[in-house]
Amino acid sequence: MPRPDRDRLPLAVGDERIVTAGPIAHGGHVVAHTDGWTVFVRGALPEESVRIRISEVGAKVARADVAQVIVASPDRVAVPCAWAGTCGGCDFQHVALPAQRQLKQQVLIDALTRFGGAEQDLDGMDTTVHELPGHPDGLRWRTRMRWAVDGATGLRAHRSHAVVAVDSCLLAVPRLDRAALPVGPVGTREVAAAQGSDGTAAFVPLDGKGRPLAPEGRLVERAGARRWRISATGFWQVHPGLAEALQQAIVDLGRPQPGQSWWDLYSGAGLLSAALADAVGSGGNVEAVEASATGVRDARRALHDAPWVRLHAADVAAWLAATGAALPRPSGIVLDPPRAGAGLAIVDALAKVGPDRLVYVACDPVALGRDVGRLRSSGYRLRGLRAFDAFPMTHHVEAVALLERAGSG
Ligand SMILES: C[S@@+](CC[C@H](N)C(=O)[O-])C[C@H]1O[C@@H](n2cnc3c(N)ncnc32)[C@H](O)[C@@H]1O
Repeated sequence: MPRPDRDRLPLAVGDERIVTAGPIAHGGHVVAHTDGWTVFVRGALPEESVRIRISEVGAKVARADVAQVIVASPDRVAVPCAWAGTCGGCDFQHVALPAQRQLKQQVLIDALTRFGGAEQDLDGMDTTVHELPGHPDGLRWRTRMRWAVDGATGLRAHRSHAVVAVDSCLLAVPRLDRAALPVGPVGTREVAAAQGSDGTAAFVPLDGKGRPLAPEGRLVERAGARRWRISATGFWQVHPGLAEALQQAIVDLGRPQPGQSWWDLYSGAGLLSAALADAVGSGGNVEAVEASATGVRDARRALHDAPWVRLHAADVAAWLAATGAALPRPSGIVLDPPRAGAGLAIVDALAKVGPDRLVYVACDPVALGRDVGRLRSSGYRLRGLRAFDAFPMTHHVEAVALLERAGSG
């Protein structure tokens, strides 16, 4: 049996090497090679010459941080935050914002090609990662924060539970920054901080298991003409420009028409259900499925004027098997699953339902790529894409993908 690692030289944590940084990979690092090892390097840019310090040696790959930049990329900038590199929140502070978006675009294309097999579909498609309005410097946009209170108060380190005693986070909106944190009751291990569209802030102390230690406040959020009152720990899009951008994207890509039937899976407080409800009108219907009872309750209040939206407090898999299977085939399905993606069992079930259009909202390109690959093998094709830089300074990117059943359209 050939041994892929037989030519490797020993490598240990703390070792330093000079390497030429290769392409960007998912997760915000670039790929480099040294001593027969593939090394994921944090803090470098493609084509830079850097001295790296090994931080982890795994069975297959090693990880490293940049110890010194020898030849810098023209896209390198001075980091605005003193904690960059230590705190786990940001990966791209050393990269100019337009170049951050290009790196995210590259990761998205790579994921849709390598995991999704969608190279042909992408030919000629606009894959630009768009800036969201309101924060041209990429700072002070986070309206949801989780501050750790664990020995020190601060934010978690990269790939660690250790707390870095960050005294100010440049991504947080000012009202949620460290200085604004109230002292929580005994037993507080985290504080969930959230700010609504009207600028009101709420702070919820949480215990070691993430349970609230005090009553949760509610926040006002707005998107389009509609208003929500969201529980402070309930889900809402973190970047203030993203909620309306997503509503617009699912309508532009999915083209829901008056009188049609659509499903909104993983519907949260009904942000995307609201856009679908307006598009299909009272002659159509929307089935919204969300596991969190709080999310469903928040949706019920916000969408009380659109009784053609039916809210289902259920796990998507269970709902598809029990209820969805018995419903007529919808014209389209919007799905916005958590970071891990819908997964192969769900996408197989959706392909079986067989709507003409699926609009997949994703915050993890690799999970999206995997699920697109499965849908392509069930006869769907990637027909549109809209990507947003909803998480500046980090490697994260939000993408909306339109999949159409071959022969429909
Ligand atoms: C990324 S959020 C999207 C929410 C909404 N579309 C929005 O834009 O505000 C994902 C949602 O899926 C819900 N969720 C996670 N796993 C689920 C499951 N197995 N079944 C139903 N909902 C689930 C979460 O509670 C969360 O509200």
